[in-house]
Amino acid sequence: MGSRTVSVVVTGATGQVAYALLPRIAAGEMFGPDTDVDLRLSDIPQMIDKARGVIMELEDGAYPLLARVSASADPAESHKGIDWALLVGSKPRGPGMERNDLIKENGPIFVGQGRAIAQHAGPNVRVVVVGNPCNTNCLIARSAAGPAVPDDRWTALTRLDQNRSRSLVAAKTGARVRDVKKLVIWGNHSATLFPDFTNATVGAKKVTDAVDRAWLEGEFLTAVQQRGAAVIAARGASSAFSAAQAIVDHVRSLTSPTPADDWASVAVVSDGSYDVPKGLVSSFPVRVAGDGWWEIVRGVQLDAFAKSKVTTSVAELQREQALVQDLIKAAA
Ligand code: LMR
Repeated sequence: MGSRTVSVVVTGATGQVAYALLPRIAAGEMFGPDTDVDLRLSDIPQMIDKARGVIMELEDGAYPLLARVSASADPAESHKGIDWALLVGSKPRGPGMERNDLIKENGPIFVGQGRAIAQHAGPNVRVVVVGNPCNTNCLIARSAAGPAVPDDRWTALTRLDQNRSRSLVAAKTGARVRDVKKLVIWGNHSATLFPDFTNATVGAKKVTDAVDRAWLEGEFLTAVQQRGAAVIAARGASSAFSAAQAIVDHVRSLTSPTPADDWASVAVVSDGSYDVPKGLVSSFPVRVAGDGWWEIVRGVQLDAFAKSKVTTSVAELQREQALVQDLIKAAA
């Protein structure tokens, strides 16, 4: 039995990512072995029958930590009192598309989510936006929620890109993934993202001393930026269980102290740090100190190459923000 209960809504609950994610939350992998889970499945009305099938499977798993599971298309039910909102529900991209090609279709969903969170969520709610383009969807939802849900509650997922980066460097150097540290994503979850290898370490070495810089600036950078598209091309569908893994990692990183020799990639509402305009949702190196709240790591040095890549990605975020001005204004 858990000593406390966390209420979590997962939107897009009948989709592929949720199908990989829900059993892991129920098994305690996200909130730990001492926490009961009240799991809320949220989806559009025509998916609720299918959600009942997912509920049956969750019941059949007999998860000791699963205190309650329910499904609803009405946020007044599914989002009532929630501690965490995992916003997965959205249209995924297909072959040949960029993630921000989805902005006009998916943006309005996040106006609805922002409002629902402001109206129904618990006072300590924390939000993870997964549906693409996730940074700008987070910006839209954050603006729709208004002042009731402060900036520091809103995050978007760049952990999948971090995990991809670390796996690639581990494979290149013959190290284990766990030995690759401080390799974090800056900017947008898009083809402009920057995995900052300039501050990263592998074992006792700097990554830039362990690996040829031309590989890092070329093949590696492109591989990480294009990995989502490569999965779609190969599988005919976008990443599902690796996305679920990244969501679990993201929440765990925000709820446990960051090891002294590491950072985590989290897209958060910028406070103006590192010249990222205030209010944009951009990925930064983040730490959680002790039992505390997250903070953007201060004083990270970026060389000219790294700076130019971050600038490019942030400029793309500004263009996305301009494209959704109407949604942001309508939300306000
Ligand atoms: C990913 O990175 O795999 C996801 O964001 C899906 C996509 O469209 O790339």
